[in-house]
Amino acid sequence: MIELTHISKVYDGPNKVTALKDISLSIKEGEIFGVIGQSGAGKSTLIRCINMLERPTSGSVLVDGVEMTKLDGNALREQRKNIGMIFQHFNLLSSRTVYENVAFPLELQGMSKDEIRQRILPILDIVKLSDRLDNYPSQLSGGQKQRVGIARALASNPKVLLCDEATSALDPQTTKSILELLKDINEKLKLTIVLITHEMQVIKEICDRVAVIEGGIIIEEGPVLDVFTAPKEKTTREFVGSIISHKLPEEAWRHLNVQKEWHDGLCPLIRLNFTGDVTDEPIVAGMIRRFGLDVSILFGGVDYIQDTSFGHLIIVLNGSRESAEQAVAYLEGLPIKSEVIGYVAANH
Ligand SMILES: Nc1ncnc2c1ncn2[C@@H]1O[C@H](COP(=O)(O)OP(=O)(O)OP(=O)(O)O)[C@@H](O)[C@H]1O
Ligand SMILES: [Mg+2]
Repeated sequence: MIELTHISKVYDGPNKVTALKDISLSIKEGEIFGVIGQSGAGKSTLIRCINMLERPTSGSVLVDGVEMTKLDGNALREQRKNIGMIFQHFNLLSSRTVYENVAFPLELQGMSKDEIRQRILPILDIVKLSDRLDNYPSQLSGGQKQRVGIARALASNPKVLLCDEATSALDPQTTKSILELLKDINEKLKLTIVLITHEMQVIKEICDRVAVIEGGIIIEEGPVLDVFTAPKEKTTREFVGSIISHKLPEEAWRHLNVQKEWHDGLCPLIRLNFTGDVTDEPIVAGMIRRFGLDVSILFGGVDYIQDTSFGHLIIVLNGSRESAEQAVAYLEGLPIKSEVIGYVAANH
């Protein structure tokens, strides 16, 4: 649905800023694609290059088969009907009511009052604002304002919805309800959604795939579950770590006195990462039974991404070196990710 090929963006001026460097991304029809990055990474520039609010300095932008960089004037306005957008600060017109805000883009297109009414009443129903049509933005909560923003973006029946930090000004509970609404319209209206955020929680809640942007470069990309369970880059690990800790707390780590080499009397300290059905299997019980080991669980947790469970455990295999070696080999043969992270004294 959206193909970005070798996109670069340089902001000219006294201080030249290269905001995007050679970005290529392919976003499929009907998916929710997230782009995460820290402040200044280039997220807004990237999303604004999709609908030509910013023109890329070089590269190609295809939306629904149309080369956006070649359009301007009427042709661009026409194609933009296919691409709705919502913003962090909602960008509503304060002198217009909820109804009038949502009607505004259709009025600009010259649609008749009746047509507008027919078009937007069902949308206002979807975003649950039917009882607020005559309110002004100042009479609404942040979450309600964003619902108006979403309704306005949907008014021209777009195929794509771009969300620039759409929940960053909202509290966690309201964020959740807006994300649920976005998921709902993605499913009901088969809308392709691109959202940018600096919050990993947002990615975790609703995205199918995610790209991590840093310094104008996509440093990592993949299905959300893969990126969460096996982040490759340092920045990605920090984002994942911001909501899921895969690490022993610092204090526990010091207390353990972890060694790099397997000396006599030490036992392996192992991190297990597991995804999906495996999570329910009695891996630890299996090791105790098979190898006669005493397994201590030091740290762990299970989390869910869109109904798939994934978890991690940090364990010590207490027992003879021979049994522990067999158990490590056994773990390597299982469909889970295991890693010996060091060696510690027995019986932790
Ligand atoms: N209109 C502009 N003129 C010049 N430089 C700009 C312009 N817009 C953005 N930049 C610069 O481009 C870089 C990327 O900015 P961008 O707004 O895309 O980042 P962002 O990831 O959206 O950040 P934030 O999370 O703070 O919104 C920054 O260095 C920024 O200063
Ligand atoms: Mg931004």
